[in-house]
Amino acid sequence: MKEAFVAELKRVAETVEKRMRQALRAKGVDRSGYEKLAEAMEYSVFAGGKRIRPYLCIEMCKAFGGSEESAVAYAAALELMQTASLIHDDLPAMDNDDMRRGKPSNHKAFGEYTAILAGDALIIESFFVASTNIFCSMQQNAAAVAFLAKGTGVDGMCGGQQLDLHIEGHPCDAEMLKKTHRLKTVALIRAAANMGCVAASASEDKRLLAESFATDLGFAFQIKDDVLDAVSTAEVLGKTPGKDAADGKNTYVSLYGLEKAKALVKEYSDRAAATAREIGGESGERLLALCEYLLERNN
Ligand code: IPE
Ligand code: IPE
Ligand code: MG
Ligand code: MG
Ligand code: MG
Repeated sequence: MKEAFVAELKRVAETVEKRMRQALRAKGVDRSGYEKLAEAMEYSVFAGGKRIRPYLCIEMCKAFGGSEESAVAYAAALELMQTASLIHDDLPAMDNDDMRRGKPSNHKAFGEYTAILAGDALIIESFFVASTNIFCSMQQNAAAVAFLAKGTGVDGMCGGQQLDLHIEGHPCDAEMLKKTHRLKTVALIRAAANMGCVAASASEDKRLLAESFATDLGFAFQIKDDVLDAVSTAEVLGKTPGKDAADGKNTYVSLYGLEKAKALVKEYSDRAAATAREIGGESGERLLALCEYLLERNN
């Protein structure tokens, strides 16, 4: 299953990359004078990345009887958003990180104002792509855009990033840390599952099941990210390790210690796996493999 899953993840990533390339190309527009902005956007989008959120969106759609085709634009929108969040996360005013996806971070390669605008333009392009999905109805597109907006706005990823930076260097309790992770990371992963459900026109019961899976997977994902920051190398990780501790970030490792943090990754991952079994079918099998893959990942 593992090899088959990795091959499937790669296949889906290529499909989504094709859709993103289509979204980012000039379409007969003369970009002379501001071509650097488009170049900066493509630089980060196609620098690699695990493409987990688009995969989850497409797999959830298939799990509930939808076609892959109907979810591809939503999946592409999610990855454009994800890439924007990483460009902004690395900025000097935020985490000030020089490396991302194995390459110099966007502001290192293109300068700060271009990186800010590249993130902004990717966010806007993300909404454009989701709202113009020709394989779904206008009603579905409106619902998908609403999930995307809620997952990323003030009570989603942006709020989480604000919290993450606001509490940096200050003591923080378990509840506040969990809230930070829920907003900065889990919210977009939940949006991915919900947008897949929209593409499949899944029932509310099914959507709640998908959301529950994504919530547990999302916590496992960010806690694992905290663990990897503490134990990995730049070469393997593709970003600067040891940065959380150096910056006084509140993470599951700083609050609970490395071993307990690892145990919590397993706990959340097991919970997500139980929901994947409940979802069942071939998609359920692949969602189980996704849990395993993310549990064992080293970047
Ligand atoms: C990194 O996300 C930011 C977090 C929310 C931890 P990923 O680990 O999914 O990064 P890419 O997209 O694979 O580069
Ligand atoms: C980032 O969390 C969450 C985002 C919304 C981008 P981190 O700051 O831990 O992500 P990395 O470790 O830089 O990828
Ligand atoms: Mg950060
Ligand atoms: Mg960061
Ligand atoms: Mg991190």
